[in-house]
Amino acid sequence: MNIAIVGCGFVFDIYMRTFKAHPELAIVGVFDLKSDRMDRVCAYYGLERYASLDALLNDGRVDIVVNLTNIGAHFDVSRKALMAGKHVYSEKPVTRNLQETQELFAIAAINGVRMYGAPCNIYSDSVRTLFKAVGDGAIGKPLLVYAELDDNPIHLMEFEKVRSPTGAPWPLEEEILEGCTFEHVGYHLVWICGLLGPAIAVTAYSNELIETKAAGVPGRSGTPDYSVACLTFANGTSARITCSVVAPRDHRMRVIGTDGEVSTDSYRQYRSPVHLERYSKGSLSARKLQVLRNSRSLGRLFGIGGRRMRLVRNWKSNAVEKDQSVRSSLRTRVKEWVRRKEVYAQDKFVGIAEMAREIRAGGPQYLSPDFIAHLNELTLLIQGAGPEGLATRPTTTFAPLGPLPGTQDYGTGYLERLHPTLLERIASR
Ligand SMILES: NC(=O)c1ccc[n+]([C@@H]2O[C@H](COP(=O)([O-])OP(=O)(O)OC[C@H]3O[C@@H](n4cnc5c(N)ncnc54)[C@H](O)[C@@H]3O)[C@@H](O)[C@H]2O)c1
Repeated sequence: MNIAIVGCGFVFDIYMRTFKAHPELAIVGVFDLKSDRMDRVCAYYGLERYASLDALLNDGRVDIVVNLTNIGAHFDVSRKALMAGKHVYSEKPVTRNLQETQELFAIAAINGVRMYGAPCNIYSDSVRTLFKAVGDGAIGKPLLVYAELDDNPIHLMEFEKVRSPTGAPWPLEEEILEGCTFEHVGYHLVWICGLLGPAIAVTAYSNELIETKAAGVPGRSGTPDYSVACLTFANGTSARITCSVVAPRDHRMRVIGTDGEVSTDSYRQYRSPVHLERYSKGSLSARKLQVLRNSRSLGRLFGIGGRRMRLVRNWKSNAVEKDQSVRSSLRTRVKEWVRRKEVYAQDKFVGIAEMAREIRAGGPQYLSPDFIAHLNELTLLIQGAGPEGLATRPTTTFAPLGPLPGTQDYGTGYLERLHPTLLERIASR
């Protein structure tokens, strides 16, 4: 399937990191308002450029327009592409207000095309493994999700020096002005709502705590650098999501049920190890001892934190398993290896791959328009909650998504092998 990309900035290079893993997708051309950015990515990746957005939209070869422009341009670019009869995959948030998002889905329906939105980390092996543990009943009835999204104190990170492989600066000012909740909370909402269904109530708080986030960037931006939201779901479960660029990096995801919990270290690492703990009186009592709480390896002997699960695979797991960089010098390969193993291993193209697969099959849209609009509304509510707080009911909802497509499951035999450890049994007495 042929795609064309609008917006050749910082995130363009993150997408391109795994492009080689998707040979069924061909990039027929790119467009950016900045000519130099087009030149750089075309020379680096061997791509064609368009003279204008209209030229791109008039190209009959283009099936999907991938919108990687700045948030303020999302609506306009997506609307034009949908009206030109192209399917659209947009970076998040789809737009800055719910009416515009709903308008895009309406235009898509009228034109017989599809509109999809990032993020796509719901398709990661780690999320699939969390879903499997819950679906198999390994933690009993799910009750509660805790999700952290702290991304380091922004004022200490010198983000102004960060460049992508083709030299795009990390858009520091834009990130500060839009705020970390707008930019990031979708990564947790996508898997939490995918797992628990639609939220029926939101209690949220957001605030701006850091006065000067970077040299040369205006002081207070008026957007939050910290937010916390408690969501109540239609099925009676609850979630608490924290988002900041104030606290040190912490991306943990935990699903807590009546009989145990399943957790992983980061949404950004698509094959991040997943641990399953079946609570026992021993493992819960052992937590009272600070030596066991503070030493991970000692704690594990008493069952704290549980066992590592075999990761579920998907049809695109290979994208983050090996070097997919387009230009692979030895230096690049070493850097990519470290990045995949230790920093993050994400495949931003997998959302487009899933979209193309659904278009080819002609089946329903798994991440449905209602689902994407719901995520958009929750993002806007949490961001806008303010220091006085907000308690409200979202106006949008969606039908449950059902099992994730592309999952390569390995059955439930692992449940029978989940015996408590010897020390856990002793501590239970
Ligand atoms: N920076 C990141 O790490 C990151 C990660 C994930 C997602 N995103 C998302 O990706 C999107 C882009 O972010 P970025 O970091 O690449 O920003 P960026 O500023 O580096 O790049 C955006 C590019 O879009 C171009 N552009 C803007 N309006 C346009 C228009 N109307 N037509 C054509 N080109 C246009 C700009 O000239 C610029 O080159 C945002 O929605 C952001 O939330 C960014």
